[in-house]
Amino acid sequence: MGIIVKIAGPLVIADDMRGSNMYDVVKVGTLGLIGEVIQLKETTAVIQVYEDTSGIRPGEPVESSGQPLSVELGPGILTKIYDGVQRPLDVIRQKSGVYIRRGINVASIDRGKKWKFMPEKSMKKGSHVSEGTIIGHVEETPLIKHFIMVPQGISGKIETIKSGSFTVEDTIATVSTGKKVEKLTMMQRRPVRMPARYKSRIPSDSPLVTGTRVIDMFFPVAKGGAAAIPGPFGSGKTVTQHSLAKYSDSKIVIYVGCGERGNEMTEVLTEFPELKDPQTGRPLMERTILIANTSNMPVAAREASIYTGITIAEYFRDMGYDVALMADSTSRWAEAMREISTRLEEMPGEEGYPAYLAKRLAEFYERAGRVNALSGNVGSVTLVGAVSPPGGDISEPVSQGTLRVVKTFWALDASLANSRHFPSINWLSSYSLYIPQLSKWYQTNMGENFAKLRDDAMQILQREAELKDIVQLVGADALPDTERLTLEIGRMVREDFLRQNAFDEIDASTSLKKQEMMLDVILHFRDMAARALDAQVTIDKIVAAKVRARIARMKELKEEAAKKEIDSIRGDTDKEFAELTKG
Ligand SMILES: Nc1ncnc2c1ncn2[C@@H]1O[C@H](COP(=O)(O)OP(=O)(O)OP(=O)(O)O)[C@@H](O)[C@H]1O
Ligand SMILES: [Mg+2]
Repeated sequence: MGIIVKIAGPLVIADDMRGSNMYDVVKVGTLGLIGEVIQLKETTAVIQVYEDTSGIRPGEPVESSGQPLSVELGPGILTKIYDGVQRPLDVIRQKSGVYIRRGINVASIDRGKKWKFMPEKSMKKGSHVSEGTIIGHVEETPLIKHFIMVPQGISGKIETIKSGSFTVEDTIATVSTGKKVEKLTMMQRRPVRMPARYKSRIPSDSPLVTGTRVIDMFFPVAKGGAAAIPGPFGSGKTVTQHSLAKYSDSKIVIYVGCGERGNEMTEVLTEFPELKDPQTGRPLMERTILIANTSNMPVAAREASIYTGITIAEYFRDMGYDVALMADSTSRWAEAMREISTRLEEMPGEEGYPAYLAKRLAEFYERAGRVNALSGNVGSVTLVGAVSPPGGDISEPVSQGTLRVVKTFWALDASLANSRHFPSINWLSSYSLYIPQLSKWYQTNMGENFAKLRDDAMQILQREAELKDIVQLVGADALPDTERLTLEIGRMVREDFLRQNAFDEIDASTSLKKQEMMLDVILHFRDMAARALDAQVTIDKIVAAKVRARIARMKELKEEAAKKEIDSIRGDTDKEFAELTKG
C-alpha cells in the first residue's frame, strides 16, 4: 500500500510503492480512483489517473492491483458504449446519476447475463488446445457469432467441456496443463498496451469497400491497412468516419471518439443506436462497440481510449473477423500525451509533444494488419485515424508522424469544404499505396475495366487542374475545343461522380458495381464527345447535350434501378451524339 505525496492535475505521485510494477493499475485515494503507474523510481511512483483528481489529498492511500491496464473480453461486449478505460457508460449513469461519480466500480461486461455456449464439435475430452484455440461460440447478437478462445498462457488437454447457459464467469471447460487443471470461462482479459500475438502476418489483398466513391475508386485502404484523414476544422473528418462505420464492409466496427467536443460525441451516442446495418436491416450496434471520451473527460482516460479500442479490435480479429477501427481524433490523443508529458517534466520534442510521439503513433498503426490468428482463422484490423492539424497545416508533428506509417492518405481540403464539395477529399493530394497489392482483387471481382476507368478518370482530373491554371491566366476561350472538353469532363467527374452527400439516403453509399457504371458512362460520354468534336460539332452543342442532366442524377438512382437507367443513358448518349453529328 502506497501513500499520496503530491497531486498535479491528472498525475499523482505516491511513495512506499514497493512491489508494484510499471503499468500496474492502482486505486488512488480514499475514493479509489483508477490510475496506472507510468513512472517508477525506487519506491516512488508517478500515476496517471483516469478520473478527475480534485479533492484527493496527500496522505491518502494508493493500492496496486498488480495487474497491467487491461480490457475484459467476452460475450456482452458488442452493442456497448464504453469510456476510455472500458467502463460501460450506461451502467455508470445508472449507478451515479447525471454526474459521473468518481471511483465507481463497474464491470465492463455484465456478470449476471447468461449466454448459450455451444462447444465446437471437435472439442472433446483429450483434445489439445492452446492460446487462441476456438473451443466454442455464443450467438452474441443476430449479426455476430462470438467465438470463445483459450486465453493467453494456457495450453493442454481438455478435461471437460459442456454446452448450456452460462454467465461469463461460469466454468465452461477445464484444461489439464500437465501441472494443474485450469478452469476456462467465456471471459478473458488482455493488457491493452501490448499487441496480441498471432501466427503470422499475411498480405492484405482485398479493399475495405466503403461505399464512398472517391475512396473506393481512387484511394482505397486495404482490409488490414491503415489510413489517415487529416483536415482542418469542419472539413468532414467526422462525417467521413461515421460513413465508414455505417457502410464499410467490415464485420465489426470499433468507433473511438477521442477528445472531441461533447456535442459531437452526443451525436455519435444518439445517432449510432438508431442506425441500421445496410446488409441486414438489423441495428448496426449489433456489430459495433463505441468508446466515448469527450474533451471534458479526464485527459489520461483519453490517452488510454485508443489502446482500449485497438485491443478489442484485435480480439475480434483473432476470431477471424474483419474489423475496422475509426479514431476521431488522434490529434486529441496526442495532445493528451503532450499534457501528461509536460506534467512529467519530460524533455519536450517538436511543438511540445513528447519525443516518443512518433514512436507511439507508429506502434498504434502497426497494430493494423491482416493475420493468420492463433485460432487458425484469418482476420484483419483496419485503422482509420482522423487528424486535426491546427490551421489545417499538416507539417505539424502528429500529421507527419502519421503520414510516415499509413499507406492511405485522405487529404481533406478547406476550400472544397467551403465550396460545399463533399466529401472534401482532395483528389490531387490524396493517395493510396495499396492499389498495386489490390489490383488482382479488382481484376477478379470487378473485371479489367475497373482499373482502366480509375486511371482514365484520374488523368482527366489531373489534366483539368493544369488547364484550370492556364484558364486563370488566359481565359477559357483561348483553349482549343479538345481542352475545353477535358474541362467539361473533369467537371462531370467531380460533380456527378466524386461529390457525394453523406446525408442522402441513397447517395450516402454506392456499391462498387454502381460506381463503375457511373464512371463508365461519364467516360463514354467523353469518347462520344471527342468523336463529335472531330466531326465538327461545336463544343457548345456538346456542353448543352440533354443527356447530361440524367448523368448528373445517376447518384439518386437506387441500386436496383441503376443498371437499367444507366444502360438507357448510355444508349441515349449514342443517339444524341448521332443526331448532333448528323446535324
Ligand atoms: N460527405 C458529406 N456530405 C454532406 N455534408 C458533409 C459531408 N462531409 C461533411 N459535411 C458537412 O460538413 C460539416 C462538418 O463536417 P465534420 O463535422 O465531419 O467536420 P470535422 O472535420 O469533423 O470538423 P471538426 O474539426 O470540427 O471535428 C458537416 O456538419 C456537414 O454539414
Ligand atoms: Mg469532427
